[in-house]
Amino acid sequence: MAKKSGTITYKCSNCGYSQPRWLGRCPECGEWNTLEECIIDQNAITPAGRGCDTVQKIKPVPLSSVEAQQDTRIFTGIAEFDRVLGGGATKRSAILIGGEPGIGKSTLLLQTAASTTKSIAEKANILYVSGEESAAQIKERASRLSLRTNGIQILCTMRLEDILDALDIVNPILAVIDSIQTVYSAEAGFIPGTVNQLKYSANELISWVKEHDSVLIMTAHITKEGLIAGPKSLEHMVDTVISFERNNDEIRFLRAQKNRFGSVDEIGLFEMTSAGLTEIEDPSALFLTRRTDSQPAGIACTAVYEGSRIFLVEIQALTVPAKASLSRVYSDKVDSARIARVAAVLEKRTGIHFSDQDLYVNVAGGMRLSESAIDGALAAALYSARTDIAVAAGTVVIGELSLAGEIRPVNRVKQRAKAAQNMGFTQVYAPETGTGMKKITSVKELIKELFGK
Ligand code: TYD
Ligand code: MG
Repeated sequence: MAKKSGTITYKCSNCGYSQPRWLGRCPECGEWNTLEECIIDQNAITPAGRGCDTVQKIKPVPLSSVEAQQDTRIFTGIAEFDRVLGGGATKRSAILIGGEPGIGKSTLLLQTAASTTKSIAEKANILYVSGEESAAQIKERASRLSLRTNGIQILCTMRLEDILDALDIVNPILAVIDSIQTVYSAEAGFIPGTVNQLKYSANELISWVKEHDSVLIMTAHITKEGLIAGPKSLEHMVDTVISFERNNDEIRFLRAQKNRFGSVDEIGLFEMTSAGLTEIEDPSALFLTRRTDSQPAGIACTAVYEGSRIFLVEIQALTVPAKASLSRVYSDKVDSARIARVAAVLEKRTGIHFSDQDLYVNVAGGMRLSESAIDGALAAALYSARTDIAVAAGTVVIGELSLAGEIRPVNRVKQRAKAAQNMGFTQVYAPETGTGMKKITSVKELIKELFGK
């Protein structure tokens, strides 16, 4: 029988899309001149269908007979990072850390490599691969931050094949790739930095870590708008996706966006100092503004949960007559729909007008708030901004607002109240009694208590 000859296909070197005819522009990613001729060798395609006896059959086993693995995690020794990972990094998993350039990804990972060496066996190694900095630069940073470098192997390369070889030789317990965007393989087309390259390289590295008792951490540069398509395409391939963000000060937030091995509620907090990234261990008061004079109008405080921790936060509101005939909401820290809803309930239940106003809402310290427990404080801030009457200093409002104008209980009200009192707040308004709280059940009652109206 005559052998089947190869079939010609045209594959995009940017996104990997393939199609039978050449085109000037890839229909998938829109790049020009990226379709390249490839020959698919039919003989090379292994039959893997049902009933094929060349493929080794894998049979199901009872789940109850499977033995649980012990020691499945390694600890980075950086508590804020370990918590975001869900209690240390899970072996045989791949973690992607995205953040804008200059946020501190390389610093975090060098510090992580150094502190992980403390929690692993004496002979174990860590491989730190950089495609962006030279070994001397990394050494200089490690010395400046007084990091322990025993057990860390450095590899400065962009070639995927070099990295895979090094992984086999070093057999590291932790492999850091800084950054995945610099990794390049001739196998994945001729253009470096394309989505195709990124996916191919990440896939090879992830395949390696899945077969070894090791953890892979890759960094990726993301612009402020998070628009780069490349790293996004890796999110489904890895086990954990972590974003590294900052506020206007030197505070850095580490937040899990996806985690197969833990919750995505926890955040890690760091401060960038001259000694590198330092952990913020007691962040409960981090987002409060210290004032020596009295509190201005438009401000109200509340207590929010982020994962297992409570933060006291200050919500700031401003109302000005609408510029267009339509009132608008400007806020990137609190969902606009929530603000519009709270304003509508206030308008209906207390008679104050927001429908001819533009509403601006901000959160001091740049924390993003999504809990419904902030509704009461948001209502107080909006009312205060609209009437120009300040909420008394030392006041905290906890509770969700229903469309009917009720202040509804939220989870762990007592713990929130306690945290607020520990921070020096003297008046706690919540839809519950006890722990020194003043009970309020409706927004009307809240406004009367706070503003006497
Ligand atoms: P870097 O880790 O290189 O960021 P990325 O890898 O995300 O691009 O951090 C760069 C910034 O951090 C740089 O602007 C300098 C600052 N930095 C400090 O303030 N203190 C330090 O100890 C270090 C190492 C960096
Ligand atoms: Mg870097």
